[in-house]
Amino acid sequence: MNSTVTPGDTTASFPRFPEGFFFGAATAAYQIEGAAREDGRGPSIWDTYCAEPGRVAGGSSGDVACDHYHRYREDVALLSGLGVDSYRFSVAWPRVQPTGAGAPEPRGLDFYDRLVDELLAAGITPAATLYHWDLPQALEDRGGWRVRETAERFAEYAGHVAARLGDRVPRWITLNEPFCTAFVGHAIGRHAPGTREGAAALAVAHHLLLGHGLATRVLRETTDGEIGITLNPDRLLPATGSPADRAATDRAETLHNRVFLDPLFAGHYPDNEADTWGGLAADPAWRHDGDLDVIGTPLDFAGVNYYRPITIADAPHTDPDPATRTAVDIRATETWRDDVRHTAMGWPVVPSTFTDLLTDLTRRYPAMPPLVITENGSAEDDTVAADGQVHDTDRVAYLHGHLHALADALAQGVDVRGYYVWSLLDNFEWAFGYDKRFGIVRVDYDTQERLPKDSYRWFRDLIADHRGRTGGE
Ligand code: FCB
Repeated sequence: MNSTVTPGDTTASFPRFPEGFFFGAATAAYQIEGAAREDGRGPSIWDTYCAEPGRVAGGSSGDVACDHYHRYREDVALLSGLGVDSYRFSVAWPRVQPTGAGAPEPRGLDFYDRLVDELLAAGITPAATLYHWDLPQALEDRGGWRVRETAERFAEYAGHVAARLGDRVPRWITLNEPFCTAFVGHAIGRHAPGTREGAAALAVAHHLLLGHGLATRVLRETTDGEIGITLNPDRLLPATGSPADRAATDRAETLHNRVFLDPLFAGHYPDNEADTWGGLAADPAWRHDGDLDVIGTPLDFAGVNYYRPITIADAPHTDPDPATRTAVDIRATETWRDDVRHTAMGWPVVPSTFTDLLTDLTRRYPAMPPLVITENGSAEDDTVAADGQVHDTDRVAYLHGHLHALADALAQGVDVRGYYVWSLLDNFEWAFGYDKRFGIVRVDYDTQERLPKDSYRWFRDLIADHRGRTGGE
């Protein structure tokens, strides 16, 4: 049964989760840390991208962001007040290896060391993501994820981080949303490195998966922690029931989902590649014998980021406008449903699609490990009211709806172990700069003042309610 909620229905009827289910909040290094040139950090592809005129709204960058690098204690105190079991953060590769290779920079590792200790002292389980999009620029200059060598470098970097933190971090995520790195970064060009390439984007997708598998093997030798990968499997719905729209949806399934899910959890590449990619993957020289074994290295969990469904329609080209057309042309258009509320991102709010996605994944990939929701949340046009507070009723309704949808998936037998809200703080939302606020804590970028929103208190109460009933993680 899918629950509906009206704005204002805030604390009533919290969804119920099983004993041991955990709650957390998530962030990513480039979006919050700032301190872009401190303690030996090298430049990343996002520094480069932000410096290019016209790439990021307002010409902004992560140079300062939420200044979390200096304010992490205050931010851990906010997590503590929230009562979360776990905090998902990412490690900036260019802090650990400024040029993406060679001996680690101790001052970079020291920062994460301090953060992890602060979390543990607060009774919060650290969950470290190793790659949330900030590739060292020096590796991009050598070919970036287009070349196999970057996958090997990534495994080395994982080893350095695990050697330092592996004794205290019990949950590891290799990559965040490889779809975005491969296709938003290299085919749509709206994320760093901002290129519009064809076959190279497919090579990037493959090398990301290879890097994930190699890093997983290194992590296994270095830490006893749980290891997973975070994907953003999309719920794709055909615009109509026509055979053409259904076929377009099949191609979009491969682009968004199967290109990652099939090798990771079914041991093969998608079987509709020729139809999806046209000639692009006719000779995938980037695939080597044995790669599928590495990519399929067993995992303890699969991370799922979920925000909204996408409507797919057949089209002669992905986008008729050559200025915005993706370089990987699957002959489909993507649109948003317009019969529901949209968030400040323009994304449609349809919580039941979250339930459907999760049940469908379990059905299609029986070998998938247990799931962890590693991101879910909404950007809203928050304002500070006359009483000095942010009454983010729409965000509360979004979270309420999606947590009920998640509880519905559990009730249908989907094995989900935990949920991280995106995000703890308002932060640098990639190409949207500081214009989109996803936080349950408001950040005033002039003063760096943190102000918990109504959604923070709502989530805190939900966690307390869960813990009161079950005892928590
Ligand atoms: C996801 C990203 C995360 C954030 C949210 C809104 O795609 O992983 O960093 O930008 O979207």
